[in-house]
Amino acid sequence: MSENKVTKIGVLTSGGDSPGMNAAIRAVVRTGIYNGIDVFGIVRGYQGMIEGDIYQMESKSVANIIQRGGTILKTARCKEFFTHEGRKKAYDNLQQHGINGLVIIGGDGSFRGAHIFSNEFDTPCIGLPGTIDKDIAGTDFTIGFDTAVNTAVSAIDKVRDTADAHDRLFIVEVMGRDSGYIALHSGIATGAENILIPERRTDVEDIIRALTEKHGRKKLVNIIIVAEGDEFGATELSKVITERMPDQEVRVTILGHIQRGGAPSCLDRLIASRMGYAAVECLREGRHNVFVGIVNNKMHYIPLTEAVKKKQRISEDWMRIVKILSS
Ligand code: F6P
Repeated sequence: MSENKVTKIGVLTSGGDSPGMNAAIRAVVRTGIYNGIDVFGIVRGYQGMIEGDIYQMESKSVANIIQRGGTILKTARCKEFFTHEGRKKAYDNLQQHGINGLVIIGGDGSFRGAHIFSNEFDTPCIGLPGTIDKDIAGTDFTIGFDTAVNTAVSAIDKVRDTADAHDRLFIVEVMGRDSGYIALHSGIATGAENILIPERRTDVEDIIRALTEKHGRKKLVNIIIVAEGDEFGATELSKVITERMPDQEVRVTILGHIQRGGAPSCLDRLIASRMGYAAVECLREGRHNVFVGIVNNKMHYIPLTEAVKKKQRISEDWMRIVKILSS
């Protein structure tokens, strides 16, 4: 907890954008202004902090954005912020505006930067988990995951239509960096025949065995969801299946960045609004260096030092569900 009253807040988005970041910015700006705090937008994350691209926001600066994907503050991955010189420049720019509290909307890398900065320059920092990957431990939700999964689900449903028309096998690659959450959730929700995730060893022989068995009983339409971080990868898997099962028509679809865009879902707008509000409350209460999480529908404040990548354990039950329901 800090003794000093926060009177001017800077807000920024950092790392990969995620749907709902705008809703979070809106909540920070309006909660700040409601409490008599000046709020400054920092453009392109830490890059804008270093370059001094900072402007004061008003209530109307965030009008008509809750439903928009992307981020009105823009975002960047900034290497310079990981140097002391970079952070010093950033601090000097904050000083010029009198900013004495920061809200950082981003992933674990952005939180690590915030933690170092805060210790070096004694500026309270509050993180909001904004990432489609849902790979941050300590929160049930990250801003953007729900929308990304829904985008993947609607795309995979369309893929299944054409797969069905042609009796084809489709391998669909989804995002998630080294986390399998998008693959697992979208795969189960679309009735995928198999789901490959980085948290589980990929057994190609097992996949071939299952496909051969299905082929034998004329089940030719199959969808395999592959998380981008899986050891095997969609293209490699397609090569192996084509070699081993020449009769099976295989196509690969990489969903890519469409998963990052689009209007945020209702859930993402809600959690972003709640978290944005909570971030300002944290600063008002003098909390230091935590990120806001939601666990069992309650707000939680987790030290930034604990913002580690979530390593999920996938219980055998999940994979059994996939196997049984897709037979
Ligand atoms: O972290 C979000 C994410 O979309 C990951 O799922 C993906 O691996 C990465 O960012 C892609 O990054 P970039 O937009 O820099 O290509």
